[in-house]
Amino acid sequence: MGATVGAMTDQGRPPSFARVSLGVVMSAREANLLGNIHGGEIVKLADSTAGAVAQRHSGGPAVTAALDEMAFLAPVHVGDILRTYAQVNWAGRTSMEVGVRVEAQPWNDPSIETVHVASAYFVFVAIDADGAPRQIPPLVIESADEVRRGREAEIRRAHRLAKKQEIETSRAT
Ligand SMILES: CC(C)(COP(=O)(O)OP(=O)(O)OC[C@H]1O[C@@H](n2cnc3c(N)ncnc32)[C@H](O)[C@@H]1OP(=O)(O)O)[C@@H](O)C(=O)NCCC(=O)NCCS
Repeated sequence: MGATVGAMTDQGRPPSFARVSLGVVMSAREANLLGNIHGGEIVKLADSTAGAVAQRHSGGPAVTAALDEMAFLAPVHVGDILRTYAQVNWAGRTSMEVGVRVEAQPWNDPSIETVHVASAYFVFVAIDADGAPRQIPPLVIESADEVRRGREAEIRRAHRLAKKQEIETSRAT
C-alpha cells in the first residue's frame, strides 16, 4: 500500500484517486429562522469534503486558502440527505483547486428527484510541519471533462491572483 502511494506521488495522481463523497441528513439543528438549512452548514460540509480530497491528493495536511465562489441554487430542507461530491480540478506546485457539487433529496422518498443545490470551488494549500507550503503531486488528467475542469480552474486562478495582486498594489500606494 505504502509503495503504491509513493509511486503515485512521483508520477502524479488522477482526480479519481482523491475523489470523495459525503452524505448527512439535515436536522432542525441546522435550520435558519426561515426553516430552511443555513447556508453556512452547506459551506461547512463542502469545505470538509474538499479538505478530505486535498489531504488525500497531497498525502498530508492541507488548509483552506480561499473559497471564492459558492453558488446556492436551491433551498435545502430539514429531512433532506445532503450529499457532496468533490475532486481536484487543478494542481499547482503547492496549491490545488477542489470543486464540490452538493445535491439534496428527501431522506424518506427516493422517488423524488435529487436536486443540485450548490457548487463551490476551494483553494487548498498543502503544508509541512511548520505550516509552510509544501510541494504536491501533479494532477494526471484522463478525460475530456477533466481537461475542461482544469482549463476553467486556471481561469479562476488567474482572476483570484490578479484580484489579490491589484488589492495589494492599491494598499501599497
Ligand atoms: C494558505 C497559506 C499556507 C499560504 O501561505 P503563503 O505563505 O501565503 O503561501 P504562498 O504565497 O507561497 O502561496 C502558496 C500557494 O497558494 C496559492 N495561493 C495563496 N493564496 C491564494 C489565493 N488567495 N488564491 C489562490 N491561490 C492562492 C499560491 O498561488 C501558491 O500556489 P502554487 O504553489 O500552487 O503556485 C497561509 O496563507 C495560511 O496558513 N493561511 C491560513 C489557512 C487556514 O487557517 N485556513 C482555515 C482553516 S483550514
